[in-house]
Amino acid sequence: MLREIGRLIRRDLLTEDILRLTFIAPKIAAVADPGQFVMLRIGKSHDPLLRRPFSIHQTPGDNSIQLLIKVVGKGTQMLAEWSVGQDVDLVGPLGKGFRIEGPEPFCLVGGGMGIVPLLFLAKKVLQKFPLLRLPVFLGARSANELNFLAEGFNEPGVDLYIATDDGSLGSHGLITELLANQFGAKPGGLRVAACGPYPMLKSLAALCRRLDWPCEVSLETVMACGIGACLGCAVPKINQKGYAHICTDGPVFDAEDVRWR
Ligand SMILES: Cc1cc2nc3c(=O)[nH]c(=O)nc-3n(C[C@H](O)[C@H](O)[C@H](O)COP(=O)(O)OP(=O)(O)OC[C@H]3O[C@@H](n4cnc5c(N)ncnc54)[C@H](O)[C@@H]3O)c2cc1C
Ligand code: FES
Repeated sequence: MLREIGRLIRRDLLTEDILRLTFIAPKIAAVADPGQFVMLRIGKSHDPLLRRPFSIHQTPGDNSIQLLIKVVGKGTQMLAEWSVGQDVDLVGPLGKGFRIEGPEPFCLVGGGMGIVPLLFLAKKVLQKFPLLRLPVFLGARSANELNFLAEGFNEPGVDLYIATDDGSLGSHGLITELLANQFGAKPGGLRVAACGPYPMLKSLAALCRRLDWPCEVSLETVMACGIGACLGCAVPKINQKGYAHICTDGPVFDAEDVRWR
């Protein structure tokens, strides 16, 4: 974990409430793994007091990190007003990311803003296994929400499958249904890595359990410290006593280790 003062070098407004920020942060970029996150200090004063967590979207070039941010409240609204050239106080990379290992073929599943960390993961998987065909399943409510999130996955090696709730892009329906239709009846295992809304992850975990596919999921929660100090992100461990912290033991967990509600 590092604290680094980076600099905002690019700011793209992708929709009316989603922005892509690119920061020079060479120390964090050099050691970040897909699924890890940074805690970003928003204000120069004590408002808002707490840093905010954001997944690393990708590390373009050697010395920068990119975040994709949806404006939902005070802190993200302040971020939306930042200008290029501004310094930023970052802590990261934090948490445990996705495991990139064989032997089963990989498959990525993302829903809504949960797609953010999967581009970094797709790139790393294809770097490590250059001959692999990588199925990537992306779902969202509508084409509007999905278009810019799917940007970047048009890479050689990626087979892209898309579903929207309203049918405005790709298949009409849930991304987990599309995954089951495409691969559920095929022989052989898949190693699934996923990030998205809780109901999507829960039904994906059930599907993977039924098909005996290993599955890792990235969980989200409100985080106050991001470093295991405040206990605000504690969740009960399954089959063991005590608590796991989403910020340090996760955010990526084996789906079988999550006590699904
Ligand atoms: C590991 C991790 C990675 C994340 N990655 C991204 C990312 O890549 N892009 C992105 O846009 N957001 C991401 N988030 C969520 C992001 O941290 C919050 O949206 C942000 O902190 C909200 O700050 P705010 O001050 O604007 O909102 P606040 O004013 O603090 O809250 C506004 C509303 O958002 C809700 N909220 C705040 N934090 C979360 C959260 N973590 N999960 C669900 N609801 C929340 C609050 O309950 C409230 O209803 C991530 C969160 C975690 C824990
Ligand atoms: S956010 Fe403080 S312990 Fe996890």
